[in-house]
Amino acid sequence: MASHFIEARGLGFSYDAESESDAVVALDDISLTIDEGEYIAILGHNGSGKSTLAKLFNLILTPSRGELILDGKTVTSEGLSDDEIYEIRKKIGMVFQNPDNQLVATVVEEDVAFGPENLGVPREELRRRVDEALATVGMTEYARHAPHKLSGGQKQRVAIAGVLAMMPRCIIFDESTAMLDPLGRREVTDVMERLNREQNMTVLHITHYMEEAARASRIIVISDGKILLDGTPKEVFSSVEPLLAAGLETPQGTELIHELRMLGFDLPKGCTTVGECTDAIFSLFKEKKDNNDV
Ligand SMILES: Nc1ncnc2c1ncn2[C@@H]1O[C@H](COP(=O)(O)OP(=O)(O)O)[C@@H](O)[C@H]1O
Ligand SMILES: [Mg+2]
Repeated sequence: MASHFIEARGLGFSYDAESESDAVVALDDISLTIDEGEYIAILGHNGSGKSTLAKLFNLILTPSRGELILDGKTVTSEGLSDDEIYEIRKKIGMVFQNPDNQLVATVVEEDVAFGPENLGVPREELRRRVDEALATVGMTEYARHAPHKLSGGQKQRVAIAGVLAMMPRCIIFDESTAMLDPLGRREVTDVMERLNREQNMTVLHITHYMEEAARASRIIVISDGKILLDGTPKEVFSSVEPLLAAGLETPQGTELIHELRMLGFDLPKGCTTVGECTDAIFSLFKEKKDNNDV
């Protein structure tokens, strides 16, 4: 039987579960499968449970209910041994929101070496991993620089290199672009896309930016601790009403097309990229002009 890289069955998590009165149900009855090599964006309003899900996948948290199967290893509320947790963390890495909280050394290459050094990776192998990781994120020329002098996007790329040096098969980005300027966001999403395309890395990208989510091949929308939508960007962004109900927007172009459709204009559903939206509107105008409608 072909198994999935990540599988959740009726997965639930509550904070403060010891005292029932203050327990916060952060996730409830999550069932999903994720295969190796997928590029998934996770969307959801603040407090919907996205970070909790990421922390369960990385075993920072242990499920309260249901089961989670990570690369064939079943995790229940009993948790796993430290050795088993360690094995999973090598395979599923995380990059967080604030780049300043993730960099520990005073020189870029030492920072990247920190994780694998702690794993006991031998000297030569360590050198190779650090060089490769820095090359992958396009930061080779900054190897000897001080991290605190870098831009936000560069810092995040160093943080990604630090995770890559552990040689994971999956990286979870928990709003890793949220604190960056547009250029930094672009640098970091480009790295995600390249890792997925060139190394078949499984990428889970938690983001608030619809345009970034549209670059993934699948989008999972979480609302109030449950999965609301799960499909291709086209499918998800066409579900305008549920998205709005979950407090989310659609990409601006998709929203414009939706509103024009509501007014009765004959436009296709499911345009997500700027290119698709402008093409659709252009075709409509051209048709009307050819028919002398405008
Ligand atoms: N450490 C914590 N203790 C108690 N409740 C928490 C904690 N972290 C998150 N929560 C609550 O769990 C729910 C989900 O939070 P979170 O997973 O951080 O959502 P998101 O990442 O989508 O913003 C929210 O109601 C939040 O207030
Ligand atoms: Mg969060």
